[in-house]
Amino acid sequence: MQADAARVDGSQRAKLKQQEPCVIWFTGLSGAGKSTLAEALDCQLHAAGHHTYLLDGDNLRQGLNRDLDFSAADRQENIRRVGEVAALMVDAGLIVIAAFISPFRADRDAVRDLVAGRFVEVFVDTPLAVCEQRDPKGLYRRARAGLIKDFTGLDSPFEPPLAAELRFDTSELGVDEAVQQIHGYLRSRHAR
Ligand code: ADX
Repeated sequence: MQADAARVDGSQRAKLKQQEPCVIWFTGLSGAGKSTLAEALDCQLHAAGHHTYLLDGDNLRQGLNRDLDFSAADRQENIRRVGEVAALMVDAGLIVIAAFISPFRADRDAVRDLVAGRFVEVFVDTPLAVCEQRDPKGLYRRARAGLIKDFTGLDSPFEPPLAAELRFDTSELGVDEAVQQIHGYLRSRHAR
């Protein structure tokens, strides 16, 4: 393929990949099922021939964001950096799947603005009681025992989205069903 100018832009990269780059952003409490859904969606989109990339709080906090804690200011910085990385990946032509608690509405909306028109917010709206019952990493138990402070849903706030594109309660809906719905939503959005 011949480039007709001295620089290559995002739309040319997307065209090469034959996909509409976007960010699918999972937000919700710890234990809500964000990572599980994000991983399953990643597999499904990859199998459908898409070039995806998964960004997950538990991973990013071991590298790029390892200097950050769970204070409100550091959570804000966490999401700001992830948003910048996601925006670069969208410009590179990728479908980015992001799973972060991202408890503050303004921080999520800032990422939405950054990738103008390419943000799909998925609210994983699993009740706190269910998340706490699951407690896959034993963090709720430790937070209740006073060993972890600023824990989301307990002594740190979560601001639910007001107009998420999609919403799921994983205590009511299975992973496969949710993934099919997200995939269907993406197809209908790009068919417009
Ligand atoms: S965010 O609030 O800044 O978006 P992020 O998604 O990156 O959080 O990381 C959340 C993960 O960190 C949780 O799934 C959990 O495993 C772990 N974690 C450790 N301490 C806390 C805490 N105080 N509050 C929430 N999650 C915590």
